[in-house]
Amino acid sequence: MSEKKATLTIDGIEGAVELPVYSGSIGPDVVDVGGLTSKGLFTYDPGFVSTAACESEITYIDGGKGVLLHRGYPIDQLAAHSDYLETCYLLLYGELPDAEQKERFVSIVHNHTMVHEQIRTFFNGFRRDAHPMAIMCGVVGALSAFYHDSLDIADEHHRQVAAFRLIAKMPTLAAMSFKFSIGQPFMYPDNNLNYAENFLHMMFGTPCEASNVSPVLAKAMDRIFLLHADHEQNASTSTVRLAGSSGANPFACIAAGIAALWGPSHGGANEAVLNMLEEIGDVSRIDEYVARAKDKDDPFRLMGFGHRVYKNFDPRAKVMKESADEVLAELGLEDDPLLAIAKRLEEIALEDEYFIEKKLYPNVDFYSGIILKAIGIPTSMFTVIFAVGRTVGWIAHWNEMISGSYRIGRPRQLYTGHEQRDFVPLEQRG
Ligand code: CMC
Repeated sequence: MSEKKATLTIDGIEGAVELPVYSGSIGPDVVDVGGLTSKGLFTYDPGFVSTAACESEITYIDGGKGVLLHRGYPIDQLAAHSDYLETCYLLLYGELPDAEQKERFVSIVHNHTMVHEQIRTFFNGFRRDAHPMAIMCGVVGALSAFYHDSLDIADEHHRQVAAFRLIAKMPTLAAMSFKFSIGQPFMYPDNNLNYAENFLHMMFGTPCEASNVSPVLAKAMDRIFLLHADHEQNASTSTVRLAGSSGANPFACIAAGIAALWGPSHGGANEAVLNMLEEIGDVSRIDEYVARAKDKDDPFRLMGFGHRVYKNFDPRAKVMKESADEVLAELGLEDDPLLAIAKRLEEIALEDEYFIEKKLYPNVDFYSGIILKAIGIPTSMFTVIFAVGRTVGWIAHWNEMISGSYRIGRPRQLYTGHEQRDFVPLEQRG
């Protein structure tokens, strides 16, 4: 199947192992190291920086050139001409829908926006001050206890229904986790509204007052969902694939993805950006924080800067910045003190030798945090919103894996612990 070969010299024995090399449609070739085990060798790649763990047709990233393609379409074109649900269709099915397909897809998603009524009581088990991501890990995992008719992963129809349910119910659950924290009644979805409007309606509406969602804010919200829809084999998507490789049901797999997303190096960064801006507090203190970020002995990092794969610029950040400017203008917030700090940090990162040399640019979370703050969404909800948008990516990757051939994920290790030794009885230790 592969014409190219890589040969490995081990302990001076030239050509000790010959490994096939595969080429994708674009991107670097990959060396198939599967044959190494028969030679008693494993590969060692902490953080999987140079390991392709699967074959995929969904998303392509060239971090050096700042390219992000979904099914071949550049992210900036999708952000300019498409919308979140159309991008969901593209990610799930591989092609843009025609008008009829789009209408049907949107209508199916709308028909699944409500959650089982019993889930409302499930929320009461949480503390009111629980972090909404903690609630999301719990309730999304719990969906598998409510939707038994879409758990057979070998059945394509079940997988489809699970996908619709997850995409449609995530905004409802996200808004419920917010409403619960502030003690307001849960809002039912209004299926006359589009996906982003519906989310804002469930977040900010109350039974006694209509939410009056601004079209500019709804468009920005839709763009936030769209720009987070998928990002190749990142930590949370790889987690979903790994959990799914054991045959776990889709709701459990997505709950695993939500847990992985929560960390500040991944989806938690948008929340961390705002916390950092608040901690800096004033433009006059920026230099102090920038100095800390550069200090090797200080663990502090500038949140919202840098990316594992984008070492030039984050193409999502470019589009998100446009939305940030639109939202701030719509809300008349151009002079907000926190945003002044954000703008100054952005300037520094683009001028300062340390950031230029290490290729640390503002990433998507830097700007999405600013937009969400301006819309009035509390910081603890930022990562939840990332999870809502990313759900389609997780599901598309999970489905791609399950519908093809796959094996349970089982990485190996470089063991550096004790060699075998005999057990010492308690009275002889010390
Ligand atoms: N502030 C200051 N220094 C930094 C930063 C930062 N934000 N990010 C990286 N560095 C330095 C780091 O100290 C290291 O320096 P040295 O070479 O002297 O040891 C160098 O840059 C390379 O960093 P790294 O940790 O090896 O890079 P990585 O690719 O493993 O990490 C990252 C990528 C995103 C985890 C990291 O840049 C970071 O922690 N950024 C802040 C958190 C953040 O904004 N995350 C959101 C990512 S975008 C959302 C998503 O896709 O999930």
